[in-house]
Amino acid sequence: MLSHPAVYQDVLQLVKFCLDQSEQFIKMCRTIRDQSEALKDNLTAKAVINHIIRESEYFIGIAQTILYQQ
Ligand SMILES: [Fe+2]
Repeated sequence: MLSHPAVYQDVLQLVKFCLDQSEQFIKMCRTIRDQSEALKDNLTAKAVINHIIRESEYFIGIAQTILYQQ
C-alpha cells in the first residue's frame, strides 16, 4: 500500500476512472465489431478487436480486485 493515505485515495479514484473508461471502450469495440461495414467481411480485424476486448476485460478484473479488496 502507498504510504500517504491521501495519495492512496487518489490512486483508487484513478483506478475507478480507468475501470469505467475501459467499460465504455469495450462497449465501443463491440459496436464497431458488430456494426462496422468495413469489418463485416474482415475476420482478421474482428479477431484483433476480440483480442482487444479480452485484454480490456482482463484489466477490468485487475482494477476490480484492487478496488474491492478493502
Ligand atoms: Fe495483446
